Amino acid sequence: MTEWTKSGWRAKPRIQMPAYTDQDALEAVEAKLSKYPPLVFAGEARRLKEELAAAARGEAFLLQGGDCAESFEQFTADGIRDTFKVMLQMAMVLTYGAKVPVVKVGRMAGQFAKPRSADTETVDGVELPSFRGDIINELDFTAEARIPNPEKMLQAYMQSAATLNLLRAFSTGGFADMHRVHSWTLGFAEGQGTAKYQDIATRIQDSIDFMAAAGITGGTTHEFSTVDFYTSHESLLLEYEEALTRLDSTSGNWLAGSGHMVWIGDRTRQPDGAHVDFASGVLNPIGLKCGPTTTAEDLKELIGKLNPENEEGRLTLIARFGAGKVAEHLPRLIAAVQEIDAKVLWVCDPMHGNTIKSSSGYKTRPFDMVLAEVREFFAVHKQHGTVPGGVHFEMTGQDVTECTGGVRAVSDEDLSSRYHTACDPRLNASQSLELAFLVAEELTALRQENLKAANG
Ligand code: PEP
Ligand code: CO
Repeated sequence: MTEWTKSGWRAKPRIQMPAYTDQDALEAVEAKLSKYPPLVFAGEARRLKEELAAAARGEAFLLQGGDCAESFEQFTADGIRDTFKVMLQMAMVLTYGAKVPVVKVGRMAGQFAKPRSADTETVDGVELPSFRGDIINELDFTAEARIPNPEKMLQAYMQSAATLNLLRAFSTGGFADMHRVHSWTLGFAEGQGTAKYQDIATRIQDSIDFMAAAGITGGTTHEFSTVDFYTSHESLLLEYEEALTRLDSTSGNWLAGSGHMVWIGDRTRQPDGAHVDFASGVLNPIGLKCGPTTTAEDLKELIGKLNPENEEGRLTLIARFGAGKVAEHLPRLIAAVQEIDAKVLWVCDPMHGNTIKSSSGYKTRPFDMVLAEVREFFAVHKQHGTVPGGVHFEMTGQDVTECTGGVRAVSDEDLSSRYHTACDPRLNASQSLELAFLVAEELTALRQENLKAANG
């Protein structure tokens, strides 16, 4: 077998990547990016891997969420803050409700390139190349806007660096301090989820006050005042990924320096394709989307390529089948994993199998279907005695109307009012919190059963 190199993917079949027309411009951008600092460090990726290993054993739970596609136009500090805030709230609901440490990973600081189901889009008889994310081309429906422009990689890098900088500041600079658990809701519209959250926040505050009064100094330690927050994105635009891949001098291994965790999408997981080749050689934790068309044979081959040493925490399988379909597909994949004794973290993406066209014409996801898929995911794992280790979802801290339903009942007609996504419909802040409450309930039930079983 020839040794892996960061450019080895170029010799493999590639799909879902742009055909850049100006090679000189592309090479100039790649040369520039190769000299820029990596966005993350190998030690951080290794630490995340350890935390994901704990989630795979049922000792932690992965919360992975953010935009479907980050946008150049909607890039603001408030947007980053609000998404971060909702993630913190969701994590609090899970930690408090289910008594489980939460691994927090944003679909942020690099989630720009999008796979598309069709190469072209036709509007009023005019056919143009599809929009593939701000790192590649532009959403405007003009021939010029849809030409892939390599220079956009530089803007995506700069935006990722600025986003990560703010996330790091929020994580350690006081914003994430647990004493501020109440303030994370301020500015969000009221809803049932918020009231339930305030109740938990009050109880957390009480516990902290109690500990302080009893002389337990936990309230001032590092654990109370900072969080670990990681970044992730789909490793789709391989020219960008390769240019940010660096040798880790400590281990002699290669790091995808573009984000802590990268994943392979449902459309680009061909075992002999370019995307699998690239991911197979970097040391980061890797996600692999598994959909209705993933066969047991494919999965075993992919596990062999992506995690040949069977390292715990290295491989996260992100199941996205759609509500009503989990029982049909997940068991064969669980059996495949068991057959080869593979160590994997099972995560549920209840978004990508539940996209429909609403009566008002918008692409949407009924929130009931999102919740239903999460329940089915837990039920199947319960049946098989395997560990449901996390959720992966598309959300924003903004008060958008993109997914229908939820306690504040977004209807088909409401979708037009605040539909801002650059790609797929996202959960808004209140729907995200509701999802966290459902997951906390499922995890609590699971914990009680495990306790019962342990006590005979
Ligand atoms: C995504 O996560 O935005 C995505 C396109 O997912 P999938 O590859 O599972 O369709
Ligand atoms: Co998406």
